[in-house]
Amino acid sequence: MEKIEMLYEGKAKKIYSTEDTDKVIVEYKDDATAFNGEKKGQISEKGKLNAKISTIFFELLEQKGIPTHLVEQLNETDVLTKKLDIILVEVVMRNIAAGSIAKRLGLEEGTELKKPVLEFYYKSDELGDPMINEYHIYAEELASKAELDTIKDLAFKINEILVEFLADKGIDLVDFKLEFGKGTDGKVYLGDEISPDTCRFWDSKTKKKLDKDRFRRDLGEVEGAYQEILKRLEGSNS
Ligand code: TMP
Ligand code: ASP
Repeated sequence: MEKIEMLYEGKAKKIYSTEDTDKVIVEYKDDATAFNGEKKGQISEKGKLNAKISTIFFELLEQKGIPTHLVEQLNETDVLTKKLDIILVEVVMRNIAAGSIAKRLGLEEGTELKKPVLEFYYKSDELGDPMINEYHIYAEELASKAELDTIKDLAFKINEILVEFLADKGIDLVDFKLEFGKGTDGKVYLGDEISPDTCRFWDSKTKKKLDKDRFRRDLGEVEGAYQEILKRLEGSNS
């Protein structure tokens, strides 16, 4: 499958049309941004690493019965996916307090949450992705009740699958962000990516951060953290 025309360029990926109107090619870039694009940089090899890491997670989820946009990885940076009409609601799942919830609720980073927490954010770069709840979603018709019920159900299932899979690799899944969309068949699919850009991964023993917080907070060894995640996903735990 060949790229025909660039349809969209986001902060970390480019989307291209293909000869199949139901499918697009997602190209992962080395560009990195944080704080709604205020901080900009590059993480060398990130495109390749995230394309592979995200494909591993999506293959796992497909195997476990989660409908995702994944078709196949085409080369190091490019992944063929179903074309989705993205629902403008970002879904964040949290298992351990970090980042914005730690700030908002005055929790120490690393505090275990007694139950997973699901949050919604309105996907709008212009507004800086404000937090919203279900009533905002219905008032703005961002998704129907049936779609949102499906999304919530999938998000909790995905969390369970990923927590268990990652625990086995010596990784704590602190939190992560998901995006969903409607396929040309009208069904809801998991879209976007699951990678160190969109998740917080901590080493289970040392609690070392192995994700984009190393870039956001200038902690160094950013590329090494992404490589470590891929290495562990591919099987060698040390
Ligand atoms: P937060 O603690 O900053 O709200 O982030 C929660 C999770 O969501 C974290 O794993 C990073 C991810 N995330 C994104 O993927 N994109 C974003 O724009 C933001 C703010 C967070
Ligand atoms: N991805 C968002 C941005 O580029 C925020 C983040 O991941 O911190 O600004």
